[in-house]
Amino acid sequence: MASCNVTLLLLLAGIGLTVGHNILVIFPHHGQSHFMNVQPFLKELARRGDNVTVISFYPLKPHERMKNYHDISLAGCLQMHNNNVSFSMFEGPITYLSRTLHNVLALYMMSDEVTSSIFQVPALKEFTHRVLNDGHNFDLVIVETFQTDVFLGLIHRMNVPFISVTTCNLFPWSSERIGQPQNPSYVPTNIDIFNSKMTLIERIKNTMSLLFTQFAYHYIFVPKDQKIANDNFGPGLPPLSAIAKNTSLILANIHFSLNLPRPVVPQLIEVGGLHIQPAKPLPKDLEQFLNSSTNGVIYFCMGSLLRGETFPIEKRQAFLAAFSKLPLNVLWKYEGDTLPGQPSNVKILPWTPQRDILSHPNIKLFINHGGLLGTTEAVYEGVPMLGIPMFGDQHLNMNAIQSLGAGLVLDYKTLNQHSILNGIRTVLKPEYKINAKRLQAQYRDRPMSAMETAIYWTDYVIRHKGAPHLRTAAVHMPWYQLLCLDILLIITVGIITFLFIIKIALSLLLRQIFQSKTDKNKTD
Ligand SMILES: *[C@@H]1O[C@H](CO)[C@@H](O)[C@H](O)[C@H]1NC(C)=O
Ligand SMILES: *[C@@H]1O[C@H](CO)[C@@H](O)[C@H](O)[C@H]1NC(C)=O
Ligand SMILES: *[C@@H]1O[C@H](CO)[C@@H](O)[C@H](O)[C@H]1NC(C)=O
Ligand SMILES: *[C@@H]1O[C@H](CO)[C@@H](O)[C@H](O)[C@H]1NC(C)=O
Repeated sequence: MASCNVTLLLLLAGIGLTVGHNILVIFPHHGQSHFMNVQPFLKELARRGDNVTVISFYPLKPHERMKNYHDISLAGCLQMHNNNVSFSMFEGPITYLSRTLHNVLALYMMSDEVTSSIFQVPALKEFTHRVLNDGHNFDLVIVETFQTDVFLGLIHRMNVPFISVTTCNLFPWSSERIGQPQNPSYVPTNIDIFNSKMTLIERIKNTMSLLFTQFAYHYIFVPKDQKIANDNFGPGLPPLSAIAKNTSLILANIHFSLNLPRPVVPQLIEVGGLHIQPAKPLPKDLEQFLNSSTNGVIYFCMGSLLRGETFPIEKRQAFLAAFSKLPLNVLWKYEGDTLPGQPSNVKILPWTPQRDILSHPNIKLFINHGGLLGTTEAVYEGVPMLGIPMFGDQHLNMNAIQSLGAGLVLDYKTLNQHSILNGIRTVLKPEYKINAKRLQAQYRDRPMSAMETAIYWTDYVIRHKGAPHLRTAAVHMPWYQLLCLDILLIITVGIITFLFIIKIALSLLLRQIFQSKTDKNKTD
């Protein structure tokens, strides 16, 4: 069968038709939302004839199977967290320091969890063994840049161009490998909570976060991954951070209208909303509920990780008390069989077709946690948001929305009936809808759709054999040159030397004058 395909492909190539490329895709993070962001793109590559081989925790379900899409599944090798993270994890006091540490520590733990389990998976072992020993015919690798760089070792051995994908804003270590400017005076790091206009104190904190993240990456994350890469892909690999600098480009799930403008190098391609496809019809009963809610509906969802049932009881009751005072209906994505004290205007569902719900005209407000996928979907549909950011980049995303006037941030720690009602009533005011509609128009207005952009640049990298011409000189510069520290040093030394010479010259001159004066006095 395989040889049959090959013959057919050779035939097609012979008669000058476009032939798909062989693409290896590596998604070593187990969070579902990350994979949901890119899977439509991978399916689209396969649909147009590329042969994609996907290493991930999310193989296609039997009814989704398609030609040219091959899974190497990591599913089952570790405990997943989807819909199973408890709100109690976020009950402690949260300070600047604890949030920064928590975010970096959480990334490290996820990295360790993954890299210590996946190399036991027989399908992956067999695949890497085959690639390392028998060679391969891949034209390109697409790899996620998130919590681990361990697969850069395999990519180096394969000696093929590679693209990276990030489903959130860029981490400092992702920016660094493509020389993307990250001046902390106006580029917020995505482990912190700021937007692009910062006070002096915020700029100090943002700078510290940037330095701390870079330190953790180079001295904690990379040494762990380097060892695992050497164990699995053979000893003597170059440093992973050096291989990272061969990244052809990064496709990032961001757009300047929502994620705030910043300077962008040619290697950074914004494909915000890559996962958004035309809305599909809703299940009949859900559509009935939304249609009949003539006063409007609040859609409430805290993302794919947190479990609704684990909401602390006082906070859950505060929500229900607030909802019962509203003329609108509420649709709550709530994991759990019962919702004690459920008011008649609240409907719960353990799973919701979110993208399609947000496109329903009766949705007036989205109460969310500020995850980038949901936030993007609401922006795409022009729905105002009331955000309760919990961890990761959620504060960053919601603060951006708030600064754009399309929503408000609610503090999780101080949630009560009053703050919830107040927040809802504020965001239901017409100006929020107007701002959300303006943001929607700005977000959608692009020369090519996110999907077309991603496909175009994927082909571009293959056409131009890794496209090294996209790289700015910053990619290979040592940090002290990049920050002009060597120049500042030379200028400082120059000025000091100059002042020193002036001082010596002056004192010599003064001494001369003084001496000639005393000589004159003596002779007098
Ligand atoms: C497509 O990918 C699959 C899985 O990696 C591989 O077995 C097959 O040989 C590839 N097809 C071609 C034409 O290279
Ligand atoms: C949820 O997490 C708990 C431990 O925190 C675990 O015992 C349980 O099996 C998990 N449930 C699912 C469905 O993964
Ligand atoms: C970077 O890519 C070039 C060209 O493919 C290759 O020769 C070089 O070994 C790569 N460097 C690293 C560190 O992987
Ligand atoms: C909901 O309303 C839309 C638009 O008026 C209509 O096309 C659709 O059939 C309605 N669906 C249900 C289940 O009533």
